[in-house]
Amino acid sequence: MNIAIMGFGVVGSGVAEVFTKNHEMIAEKSLHAPFELKYILDIRDFPDSPYADNMIKDFNLILNDETVGIVVETMGGLHPAYDFVSALLKAGKSVVTSNKELVAEKGCELLALAKENGVNFLFEASVGGGVPIIRPITQCLAANDISEVAGILNGTTNFILTKMIRENMELTDALKLAQKLGYAEKDPTADIDGIDASRKICILASLCFGKHVYPKSVHTEGIRGITLRDVAYAGNADMVIKLLGVAKKTGNQVVISVAPCLIDKHSQLASVSDVFNAILVRGDAIGDVVFYGRGAGKLPTASAVVADVIDSAKHTERRRIFGWTDSEEGYVADYASVPGRFYVRGTMTDGSGAGSVTAGMKSVKVLFAENAPADEAAFLVNAPSEKWLRKTLQTVGIADPVVMRVTDY
Ligand code: HSE
Repeated sequence: MNIAIMGFGVVGSGVAEVFTKNHEMIAEKSLHAPFELKYILDIRDFPDSPYADNMIKDFNLILNDETVGIVVETMGGLHPAYDFVSALLKAGKSVVTSNKELVAEKGCELLALAKENGVNFLFEASVGGGVPIIRPITQCLAANDISEVAGILNGTTNFILTKMIRENMELTDALKLAQKLGYAEKDPTADIDGIDASRKICILASLCFGKHVYPKSVHTEGIRGITLRDVAYAGNADMVIKLLGVAKKTGNQVVISVAPCLIDKHSQLASVSDVFNAILVRGDAIGDVVFYGRGAGKLPTASAVVADVIDSAKHTERRRIFGWTDSEEGYVADYASVPGRFYVRGTMTDGSGAGSVTAGMKSVKVLFAENAPADEAAFLVNAPSEKWLRKTLQTVGIADPVVMRVTDY
């Protein structure tokens, strides 16, 4: 059997490298020999690449080649990836992808197409890069009723927050450093504004709870509004701020969000630093289990992609059976209506103290930070919902509040 790679960027070139380097072992583990890399599709030219002879620009060469059984999609983006992957599955070829946007937007449809055509559609690398998470959820944790999945799903923002927490670095400086080190893109919007993490939590929620969650229904906040004083207030309460993707089952609904949250500094997720990712799964039999490792990068991501290629090759006769169904209107609950404990920081417009603005609120803990302005209030509080809390803050005269959830991880 032959394989093809579509997209020779960072991940695609990593896949070619790992496949070539460990070729014999991979062919043996796949139970398929010969097992060759036949084509690499890319619109760009790579005349000096060791794979120059494999480079093609015409997708139809892959589609119409009966010797190609598995195609790796590492192009990224929705189009033409979606169009190519649909055509390949319909043509009876298995597809392995690292493309989180594709799986988050079209996973349900593509899994159904794979089922119809008796082939595999695998995407271990789409969440957590090299961290095993898709297969553990579908196989190792299959006996559990999973109530919750939460994680640090974006390495770039975790790097920035780590610099803020450990080195007191301003967010803008930490972002510049992340760009200099090649973690953040020149346009860092997808990372900083939580879009990348939102796609990943959609995939995890769909997998854990069996119904597709689309990115547009995820409450998504990024880290732009976080200041060093928020970090200090949280630190003085023995907590750290992390950008978390969280999905929880509540009856027939799911509550799902990507937002900066406060977590206890002794929790497993609090110690996840720099560009590392970690995903916590809460099951009724296992309790909490955490998967940790490199969430991005050429070889860690390629490691997950090539493992899927091997798995797919081993399951040509009997396809891997997993997936989820589409979701109905109202499946995703209103995030702002869910009770919880919250962190609040804001300016008191009438000059009164934090004690007086929080009078009447439940379980208030006033927070302190060095050099905080006299008219600033920061506190933790229990509230029946974020909607209620924001309205109440307006009533008591706290302008432009920063509100974050306190989690129990
Ligand atoms: N840009 C992502 C991150 C890696 O920083 O985690 C790919 O998902």
